[in-house]
Amino acid sequence: MTATMIDGKAFAARVRGLVQAQVARLQAERGLRPGLAVVLVGEDPASQVYVRNKHASTVEVGMNSYEHRLPADTSEADLLALVNSLNADPKVHGILVQLPLPKHLNSELIINTIDPAKDVDGFHISNVGLLGTGQKSMVPCTPLGCLMMLRDCLGALAGLNAVVVGRSNIVGKPMAQLLLGDSCTVTIAHSKTRDLAAVCRGADILVAAVGRPEMITGDMVKPGATVIDVGINRIERDGKTRLVGDVHYASAAVVAGAITPVPGGVGPMTIACLLANALTACCRANGLPEPAGLTA
Ligand code: GUN
Repeated sequence: MTATMIDGKAFAARVRGLVQAQVARLQAERGLRPGLAVVLVGEDPASQVYVRNKHASTVEVGMNSYEHRLPADTSEADLLALVNSLNADPKVHGILVQLPLPKHLNSELIINTIDPAKDVDGFHISNVGLLGTGQKSMVPCTPLGCLMMLRDCLGALAGLNAVVVGRSNIVGKPMAQLLLGDSCTVTIAHSKTRDLAAVCRGADILVAAVGRPEMITGDMVKPGATVIDVGINRIERDGKTRLVGDVHYASAAVVAGAITPVPGGVGPMTIACLLANALTACCRANGLPEPAGLTA
């Protein structure tokens, strides 16, 4: 079998199109324009690229983008004051503080100071608890994007065996909660899992989010399974720097039913889902129905 390649780039463009259409409707019918604030502290080059891309995508779908760039030596008190002022600003519906923060800043404290209703990353402890108890929450962008692709590929997920490899707070744990919410039988596997290959071979849905290049090989994949590769790893091969996932694509693609490539799979969905979350936050803040097809 040769797997269908799941085109994350095209899917993300579709999601952005849906967001853009709903933003235009909000503007036309209610005079409302969703606003997303992104806070970047310091000059980390990767973070600067992310923040620039987020700004461009936000503007492209017709939302207001508020960028706050602060020096690396910003004090915790000053950053908390900025977050509190964004919490109080009715033009700002979503707030994202770019991680990682410089070491002298307490990330947990900063994230948990964001108004949970504006927490478009879904990292606030209240949103974590709401998701874990099956209540309405803001859902972390990467797992939300994976869920959208899985629903699109498979339709109803109820009863399927899902294995999530990786237990991070940002991807693995919320991914497992979302799959459970869609009535999958969910296993969270990780670096200490015994006989990982056998566990993975039981998966109708296999989500790889371990951060280890090409760790999941074809012999670990159930024939016909849907494989979602969240990994983005930079490796040196043949004297060149290459991006590879947590899945060994060539060997997995001959066994799986469908698989996301790296790059061009999950990656583009993350920003698209950030925009979806900002739109959702704006709708909720104004007592409007949630945007169809863009939430968990
Ligand atoms: N840094 C890298 N990815 C992310 C993300 O999704 N959210 C935040 N806040 N910081 C990040």
